[in-house]
Amino acid sequence: MLSGPGTIVVHDTPEALSRDAAARIVAAARATVETRGSFTLALAGGGTPLAAYRLLAGAVEMPWAVTQLYWGDERCVPPDDAESNYGAARRALLDHLTVPPAQVHRIEGEDPDPHAAAARYAALLPARFDLLLLGIGEDGHIASLFPGDIALHEHTRRAVAVLAPKPPPRRITITPPVLAAARATLVLATGAAKASPVVRALVGDINIDELPAQLVRPATWLLDRGAARELARVLPL
Ligand code: 6PG
Repeated sequence: MLSGPGTIVVHDTPEALSRDAAARIVAAARATVETRGSFTLALAGGGTPLAAYRLLAGAVEMPWAVTQLYWGDERCVPPDDAESNYGAARRALLDHLTVPPAQVHRIEGEDPDPHAAAARYAALLPARFDLLLLGIGEDGHIASLFPGDIALHEHTRRAVAVLAPKPPPRRITITPPVLAAARATLVLATGAAKASPVVRALVGDINIDELPAQLVRPATWLLDRGAARELARVLPL
């Protein structure tokens, strides 16, 4: 069910965006723990969220003791590989914290059988993420759901192995049912290269095969001026 795009926030700089993202994650965690006693957070891969993760590492009010960490996708590489989303988050965030290891649920990208790794990951996913973080690719992909991929029409399995056009090609990703079930979704996008996928995702004709990011509706979109450049031409931002 595709609904309206949600909330759009435009920041003057990527640094301001990262500060806002970290603050929103902490606020969501504290509010969720207040009502439900725990918090499930799915981290995004790629480079955009790393500055926010570094800020999060210093957020003393973040309730890590009752936070369960997941990832939206992973490349099929070992965790210490430069391309690993888990590895990037470990360097930016986890190495600076004491989150109980049993609460860090990484996708086992090193498994030579990504289908088996995807099935194991799907089995440990919560019914709903309290907060799902996502970036967006220049082609409009989110997580590792790329344009034209059959995984965009997966409605049963909650994580699958895919072959992506963006290297490294072998990846494991959450699927549309997991996106739809998230209680809240925060999409981070910076730079002019994201201006086109952002405007198409938020106000373009609906075609998830061409623009997978349209699956993420509603969501809170944190954009810098570059990523909001085309959207600003059609919306009173
Ligand atoms: C991945 C990510 C992917 C990422 C976008 C944006 O594993 O590549 O999950 O969906 O969020 O490609 O990446 P950047 O933030 O590096 O632009």
